[in-house]
Amino acid sequence: MRAATDKFGPITVLFNHAGTIVIKPFLETTLQEWDWLHAVNVRSMFLMTRAVLPGMIAAGGGSIVCTSSISAVAATPNEVLYDTTKGACHMFARAIAVEFRDRNIRCNAVCPGFIRTPHGLREVADLGKLGVDVSDAAMAAQQGRIGEPEEVAKAALFLASDESSFVNGAHLFVDNAFTAI
Ligand SMILES: NC(=O)c1ccc[n+]([C@@H]2O[C@H](COP(=O)([O-])OP(=O)(O)OC[C@H]3O[C@@H](n4cnc5c(N)ncnc54)[C@H](O)[C@@H]3O)[C@@H](O)[C@H]2O)c1
Repeated sequence: MRAATDKFGPITVLFNHAGTIVIKPFLETTLQEWDWLHAVNVRSMFLMTRAVLPGMIAAGGGSIVCTSSISAVAATPNEVLYDTTKGACHMFARAIAVEFRDRNIRCNAVCPGFIRTPHGLREVADLGKLGVDVSDAAMAAQQGRIGEPEEVAKAALFLASDESSFVNGAHLFVDNAFTAI
């Protein structure tokens, strides 16, 4: 935060995007994995948002974008821990929006489907090994094709920018209708 502020001035955009996944049968997961995944995916949003908000308010307002997922609303076998964290991210964005709207803060969630990143490709490979059908045919039926990172980035940029000035507390799914079916 200090480095960003020194270079660019007050922080008016925060992208809570860092995240990872645990893919395992639920009964093989551990308390350590539960705590670790919640720390990386959810506690990080809490810490960053709490740290950035005072300066953002002092600057007159800003936009926060939180990366949620289709997994916040559509569960996948062997992803109980991940799905739970993304449910929290999903509601975090909405709750911040409601509490800080009167201070000119917008907070929205971007919710990707399966995307071609190291995380997305590992997820497809690991689910396949556990017998979940993530074949090309299954992917085609669910969301047409795998998504490209740039397609999510453009949606996040829209939410971060003034182009979305009246969009607040929203969940923007970038999933080619995965969750619409
Ligand atoms: N790829 C997908 O299919 C997909 C779908 C839905 C949501 N998402 C979400 O998108 C976000 C980015 O995922 P991605 O697909 O680009 O994955 P990725 O593994 O390619 O990148 C993850 C990013 O998070 C950062 N990160 C991970 N753990 C961290 C930690 N402990 N501390 C700091 N930074 C950490 C990494 O440095 C990296 O920049 C995540 O929140 C993920 O849950 C991804």
